[in-house]
Amino acid sequence: MGKDVIIACDFSNAKETLSFLEKLEDERPYLKIGMELFYAEGPAIVQLLKDRGHSIFLDLKLHDIPNTVGRAMKLLDGLDVDMCNVHAAGAKAMMQAAAKNFRGTLLGVTQLTSTSEEVMREEILIDRPLEDVVREYGRNCRAAGLSGVVCSPLEAAIIHKACGSDFLTVTPGIRLAGDAAGDQKRITTPKQAKEFGSDYIVVGRSITVADNPLEAYRKCREEFIG
Ligand code: C5P
Repeated sequence: MGKDVIIACDFSNAKETLSFLEKLEDERPYLKIGMELFYAEGPAIVQLLKDRGHSIFLDLKLHDIPNTVGRAMKLLDGLDVDMCNVHAAGAKAMMQAAAKNFRGTLLGVTQLTSTSEEVMREEILIDRPLEDVVREYGRNCRAAGLSGVVCSPLEAAIIHKACGSDFLTVTPGIRLAGDAAGDQKRITTPKQAKEFGSDYIVVGRSITVADNPLEAYRKCREEFIG
C-alpha cells in the first residue's frame, strides 16, 4: 500500500461535499467520510463517492461491546469501503470481533489527536505517559488482527518500532505551515509527517477551508509523497 493523502470530508451533507470536490477538478483523492456526513446521508454517500472513483476511509470509530461492534462491522463491510476503524480503548475482544467481520483495512484509534497528555491523565484517567499508551494500544491492535492505527505523526515511529514497519500509521493532526491548529493538539506539517514515517496523512481543514483547496491538496501531496 503506497503513501497517500486522505481528505477529511467534514461537511454537513452531500451537496456541500460535491461542491467542494468540484474545486479539485480532475483529482480523485482518497476521501474520509466521518460521523457528520455519514449520519446526515447514510450509506448512499459512500456509494456516491465510490461511483465517482474515490477510495473511501469510513471513520466511524466504533466502540461498544464486542457483539454489537462485530455485527455493525458486518454491515459496514457490505458497503465495500477501503478503510474503517474502531477505538483501541474498546480492547482486544471488541477489536477481534470487528476484524473478523471486515475485509478491508481496519485501524484502531489510539488517542485522538485533540487529546493532550494532561487531559488524558486528568479526565480520561489514564495516568501514564501518552507515548506508552499509544504504543501499548498499537500492540493490542496488532494482536487483535488489525492492519494499523490512527495516531499522531509524532507517534508514527513509536508504532512502527513496536509493531513493525508493515503496520500502518494513518495520521490526522496535519497542518500546512501557517494554518491554524484549531482544536488539534498533537500536530505536524505533511513534510514532518513524512519524516516521522506516516503511511497515510488525513487532512481536513488545511485543505477544505483553504482559499484554494486544489493548491493545498497538491502541496500536501508534494510535501508528503514528493
Ligand atoms: O480538520 P482536521 O485536519 O483537523 O481534521 C482531522 C480529521 O481527522 C477529522 O475528521 C477528525 O475527526 C479526524 N481524526 C482526528 N484524530 C484522530 C482520529 C480522527 O483528528 N485520532
